[in-house]
Amino acid sequence: MSKTITVIPGDGIGPDIIDATIKILDKAGCGLDYEFADAGLVALEKHGELLPDTTLAAIERNGVTLKGPLTTPVGGGFTSINVTLRKQFNLYANVRPVVSFKGTKARYENIDIITIRENTEGMYSGLGQTTKADGSEAEAMSRVTRVGCERIVRFAYELARREGRKKVTAVHKANILKTTSGMFLSVAREIAKDYPDIQSEEMIVDATCMKLVMSPENFDVIVTTNLFGDILSDLCAGLVGGLGMAPGANIGADCAIFEAVHGSAPDIAGQNLANPSSVILAAIQMLEHLGQTENAKRILNALRDTIESGDRTTADLGGTHGTTDFTQAILDRL
Ligand SMILES: NC(=O)c1ccc[n+]([C@@H]2O[C@H](COP(=O)([O-])OP(=O)(O)OC[C@H]3O[C@@H](n4cnc5c(N)ncnc54)[C@H](O)[C@@H]3O)[C@@H](O)[C@H]2O)c1
Repeated sequence: MSKTITVIPGDGIGPDIIDATIKILDKAGCGLDYEFADAGLVALEKHGELLPDTTLAAIERNGVTLKGPLTTPVGGGFTSINVTLRKQFNLYANVRPVVSFKGTKARYENIDIITIRENTEGMYSGLGQTTKADGSEAEAMSRVTRVGCERIVRFAYELARREGRKKVTAVHKANILKTTSGMFLSVAREIAKDYPDIQSEEMIVDATCMKLVMSPENFDVIVTTNLFGDILSDLCAGLVGGLGMAPGANIGADCAIFEAVHGSAPDIAGQNLANPSSVILAAIQMLEHLGQTENAKRILNALRDTIESGDRTTADLGGTHGTTDFTQAILDRL
C-alpha cells in the first residue's frame, strides 16, 4: 500500500534539492505519493502568510513531511517557521545524525554520531524574556519538565537499541545549572537502568565539546537538552564537513518532519549549484522512520559511492558539476 507524505519544497535552493530527492525516492521504488504544500517566503507571496492553515492540515493529515529550507523574513515581527512547527506539532525530539564520507571536507574518517536534542523546552521555551527599560539588565527563563526529560532520554535509548548502537552519552551542566540540568541528569540516570544492554555515560557539556573535537570516534548516541543540543549538533556537522552533509528529523508522537539542516542559500538559488545531499540524507532518515530500511540503505550506498568516487559532484564537494548531474550520478547507481 502506498503512503502519502507531505512535501514542502520551501525557498531558495529548496525546490531544486527536493526535486532531486523525489527523483531518487521514486527510482528506488519507495512507493510514496506526495501532497505538495507551501511554506516560507513562497507561501507569503502566494497566500499572504508564511505558514498557511492548508499546510498545517497537510502535515497533520499525512503524519510524515519532507521539508526544504524556509526563509524567515528578517524584521516585520515574523517568528521562525521552524520553531512554530516544532511547537504546533510537539516535535520534541530533534535527531541529527552525522557520518563522515570520504571525498568531503570531513575532518575524520570514522565518525558516526547521532545527537538527540530536546526540541521544545529549556532555554528555547521563550519564557520570561525581559529587558529593563533602561537597557541595563536582561532576563530569560529556562524551564524543563520531568516528563520532557523522560521522553527524550527514553527516545534516545529506544533509538540506540533499535539501531544496534552501543552507547548513550547524556550531556549536561548539572554542576552549575543544578535545577534544570540537574533534573535532566537525574532522569537520565534513572532511565539508564532500564537499558542494561546499552553502555551509559554522562558528560559535562564543555568537556564534551573538547572530546568531540579530539576523539569523535568515542561517541555514538548523544542525548541532551535544547540549547546544548543545538550547539553540539552543529559542532558534529562541522566534523563531517559542514551543514551540506547534515540532515535533521523533528519527531513527535503523531507527526515527524524531515529536513536539511542548512538554509535556503539565496546566494546560489536557481543556479543548479546546490548539493542535495542533506535533504537526501533526511529522506533516508524518513525511510527508516517508515520502516523502509532496505530502501534507506540502497539510497545511502548510492549517495556514498557517488561522493567517494567524485563522480559528477557539486562544487562544495570539490567537483565541477551541478545539482542535476550529481543527482543523475546517484540515479545511475540505483
Ligand atoms: N531549516 C531551515 O529552514 C533553515 C535553516 C537555516 C537557515 N534558514 C534560512 O535560510 C536563509 C539563508 O540563511 P544563511 O545564508 O544564513 O544559511 P545557508 O545555510 O542558507 O547558507 C550558508 C552558506 O552555505 C551554502 N549552502 C547552504 N546549503 C548548501 C547546499 N545544499 N549546497 C551548496 N551550498 C550550500 C550557501 O550557498 C551559503 O554560502 C535565511 O533566511 C535563514 O533564515 C532556514
